[in-house]
Amino acid sequence: MGVLMDHRNVRIVFFVLCLGVIVASTLIPAYAQGDEGQGLTIGFSQVGSESDWRTAFTAITLAEAEQRGINLLFSNAENSQEAQFEAIRSFIEQQVDAIILAPVIETGWIQILQEVQAAGIPIVIIDRNVTADESLYLARVSSDFVFEGRLAAAWLAQETSGKCKIVELEGTVGSSAARDRQIGFNEVIALFPDMQIIISQTGDFRRALGKEVMEGILHTENPAEICAVWAHNDDMAIGAIEAIKEAGLDPGQDILIVSVDAIPDIFKAMMEEDANASVELSPYMAGPAFDAIETYLNGEMVPKWIPVTGGIYLPDTAAEEYARRSQ
Ligand code: AHR
Repeated sequence: MGVLMDHRNVRIVFFVLCLGVIVASTLIPAYAQGDEGQGLTIGFSQVGSESDWRTAFTAITLAEAEQRGINLLFSNAENSQEAQFEAIRSFIEQQVDAIILAPVIETGWIQILQEVQAAGIPIVIIDRNVTADESLYLARVSSDFVFEGRLAAAWLAQETSGKCKIVELEGTVGSSAARDRQIGFNEVIALFPDMQIIISQTGDFRRALGKEVMEGILHTENPAEICAVWAHNDDMAIGAIEAIKEAGLDPGQDILIVSVDAIPDIFKAMMEEDANASVELSPYMAGPAFDAIETYLNGEMVPKWIPVTGGIYLPDTAAEEYARRSQ
């Protein structure tokens, strides 16, 4: 048989190739055809709805899923790790294509992550971190909480020339967001002998609790000695602002307010000269998480950590930021 094919053979080869392409395209799943996400079912276990930031993060995630044609099974754990275990087991039973977990606390995840892995389901950790070997999850999409704490402290050190007695309102006990923000903040103030945390209490990232805790602190501490409130999120800062006002003091002047999230309400407080600085935590994490899942399902490599970044915001841009973020 010669190397050259006659016209009839060329037509047969062409026909077989076309048939192959048609058959292959019906076998490739929808997400591999440039129609990313379309048709995937993804389970999302969310922490809860403790803050405005969390509510915005949920809304953005639901909208992003809808836009991509992803069938998102959403579960709100109301700050319970047990509820998150239940949700994840139900996602496994429903044989979802992937899972996204925003963990309430950092520890206690190894067994459930092993169950997810045994079921062959990729899982992305979003926002807060877990203490587990990274082979147990596909990727982590998050900000650098230690950096956020450092940024807040650096601003405060500059603003007070390194001399300040600080009240700390901590986030949820056991969450990586609270722990790492505290680590970063403390690292920086340790460089300034006249900066000290005089009292530190948890407000669980909640506005009402932030207020309640600050009311108590204004009774137990000498308010005239408090130079600043460092709150692990804006909601607790806003609660503290209310408490400071009710105590007859001027938040933003008598007591400086620095926090994290950059939600619309903190910009409003800055416009009213009640708050001084907020470190941004971007709520736009779902896009990168969905991208990671789709990339993985297409057989491509995914980085273990996908960072989201943010800067520090001050009153000079508050009106502009408020208008932009409260649309
Ligand atoms: O994990 C991120 C933190 O959780 C946000 O800073 C806080 O507002 C939320 O509740």
